[in-house]
Amino acid sequence: MNSPKRYLITSALPYANGLKHIGHLAGAYIPADIYVRYLRAQKRDVVFVCGSDEHGTAIPIQAMKEGTTAQAIIDKYHPIIEQNFKDLGISFDIYHRTSSPLHHETAQEFFTLLNDKSDLEIKETEQYFDEATNTFLADRFIKGTCPNCGHDNAYGDQCEKCGKSLSPDELINPVSTLSGNAPIKKATKHWYLPLNKHENFLREWILKEHKDDWRSTVVGQCKSWIDGGLQPRAVTRDLDWGVELPMPSGKGKVLYVWFDAPIGYISATKQWALDNDKDWKPYWNDKDTKLVHFIGKDNIVFHCIIFPVMLKLHGNILPANVPANEFMNLEGDKMSTSRGWSIEMDDYINDWIKKDNGSESLADVLRYYLTQIAPETKDSEFTWKGFQDANNSELVSIFGNFVNRTFVLMHKLCGGKVPPFHNDLIDDSDKELIQSIHNARIKIENLLEEYKFRDALFEVIDLARKGNQYLQKKEPWKKVATGEQQLIDNCLHICLQLTANLTILINPFLPFTAKKLLKMMKVTDKILDWENAGKIKLLSVGYSLRAPELLFRKIEDDEILWQLEKLRQKSIANSQQKTEKKMEETNKKPEISNLKPEIVFDDFAKLDLRIGTIVAAEKVEKADKLLKLSVDLGFETRTIVSGIALHFKPEDIVGKQVTVVVNLAPRKMRGIESNGMILMAEDKSGKLHFVNPDNKIDAGSSVS
Ligand code: MF3
Ligand code: ZN
Repeated sequence: MNSPKRYLITSALPYANGLKHIGHLAGAYIPADIYVRYLRAQKRDVVFVCGSDEHGTAIPIQAMKEGTTAQAIIDKYHPIIEQNFKDLGISFDIYHRTSSPLHHETAQEFFTLLNDKSDLEIKETEQYFDEATNTFLADRFIKGTCPNCGHDNAYGDQCEKCGKSLSPDELINPVSTLSGNAPIKKATKHWYLPLNKHENFLREWILKEHKDDWRSTVVGQCKSWIDGGLQPRAVTRDLDWGVELPMPSGKGKVLYVWFDAPIGYISATKQWALDNDKDWKPYWNDKDTKLVHFIGKDNIVFHCIIFPVMLKLHGNILPANVPANEFMNLEGDKMSTSRGWSIEMDDYINDWIKKDNGSESLADVLRYYLTQIAPETKDSEFTWKGFQDANNSELVSIFGNFVNRTFVLMHKLCGGKVPPFHNDLIDDSDKELIQSIHNARIKIENLLEEYKFRDALFEVIDLARKGNQYLQKKEPWKKVATGEQQLIDNCLHICLQLTANLTILINPFLPFTAKKLLKMMKVTDKILDWENAGKIKLLSVGYSLRAPELLFRKIEDDEILWQLEKLRQKSIANSQQKTEKKMEETNKKPEISNLKPEIVFDDFAKLDLRIGTIVAAEKVEKADKLLKLSVDLGFETRTIVSGIALHFKPEDIVGKQVTVVVNLAPRKMRGIESNGMILMAEDKSGKLHFVNPDNKIDAGSSVS
């Protein structure tokens, strides 16, 4: 098979709506990084792109939870996630953002081209609408009972319990996640990608062409989608957060997040090319490019069906493979950040790498264990005990031990230099080990080309295991007494060449460890060139090497117990928080039907209500609920203290008109005299709204 001219490797763009956990890491990032590091060692032309997915309803929903804006959410999480990946050695060539102007432009151009070619259909349908918030309820803005498994918190796009993709119409008892209200139906116009028209192409391309070289789990999922009947899929939404439709007839609408996000791979490539003075086009247009998407199984339909149809229509190349992983469970349960049953990358970095004086080898330990248990063919399970075992009985006892013994013996028995090899004394076990080194390279290479990362890693460790057995058999330390220096030389010569080979072979998997080994061997990273693997003349005779460094430390039982306890505490705290929030919500709901006793007109007429304009607003010190407002009432400007600081930012409300009770007796709050009261309406969700005229009118106008 001819190797392709260039590679474009992608990892799913994570939503910048919160921290990402190690299940994500194992699914789409570590395998991609291993593959890319391997390709780079082969001197291939490869670009590895990723970045934040910053659109979709997930972002504004998180903003509501944190009481802030969508923009603030992405600006908060984008840099944290980017740094987490760096700390764990994920070597993207670019980590872009879908909120960037370049991405918006790229996605708009893409949409325009398809629309101009009439590849999209426009339809008007009735969709759920929330009257309280004046919002169409797409995707995660609506939830209800899952028709598939009965889970009562399924979203309008997917049930997180059973994984089924849904449309809002399928939900039983739908409610708005914004207001908690039952929605009404309202007509609206949208653009659709008619997947049904591409069924033949998809059958041919996935179920025939790729039925053997794609993972069977991936082909299987595609087959059931195709057999289930492909439907036109809406690619626009009535939202105010996302990439705006580029033409006037699409005013007020944005691209569906799953339309714009994968285009993020293209805009990331463009940005990388700009930064590096390269041409991005061949990476997306030239048939000689191998495009590979690394994802988790929940993303299969988007990367194997929807995005390829988009790419085909747009005239781009198609992915050569989409090695999707299944899920990784944690200690017997599904991993989930929202349920508090997860280990976030950020937590791992703080608890293991930073606590260990920034020891990068602990990043490699996680990379090792996650690769060893990678859910390549079926769901797998992370346990802290398994993590400890992988470290103690493989990394420490096999790999680390072999390297350490080799270096210690070389210093003790060969004067700290690479000893010569005496060809005339070569024996069968020497030959056998040399052959194993050679075979290991070929096996690992073939496995990596087939995206079998766990098997490939096993071969590396197995080679180190063979090194240990060889040392054990040769017992060079016993040959000092008998004066057989030449046999000592041969044994350690081979062990050192094996160490150099292990460095090359482990590098894609455990890059920090490879770096340490280079330092110990006093060689540059040129030696990591994949061409060198399998050779046994990598270190020259007489070259002096450094003292051994500890590659991996033992992980103690108490460290593991502490992690298990932490996980338990976190999930308890999480469910307590949820219960409290639920109780708060039920208590807070204004009893709309609970009417106050009747009054006579004169009671009402005592109130002097006026329209005012807020001309200044600031927070009241040490009172997190209070804002101090200056309100222009036409005849005078008054100071009014109002308990709305949790709902509005001062800078957002200056200029707003409000209704004021102007004849309320003055009251002191936090030392400030408040002269009047602002009327507020509270909706079911507890959100506050100003009561004001529909058009701006003169300040001071009376209300009756
Ligand atoms: N943000 C999505 C998720 O976390 C993945 C987007 S992948 C892309 O499931 F292709 F759309 F970029
Ligand atoms: Zn379900």
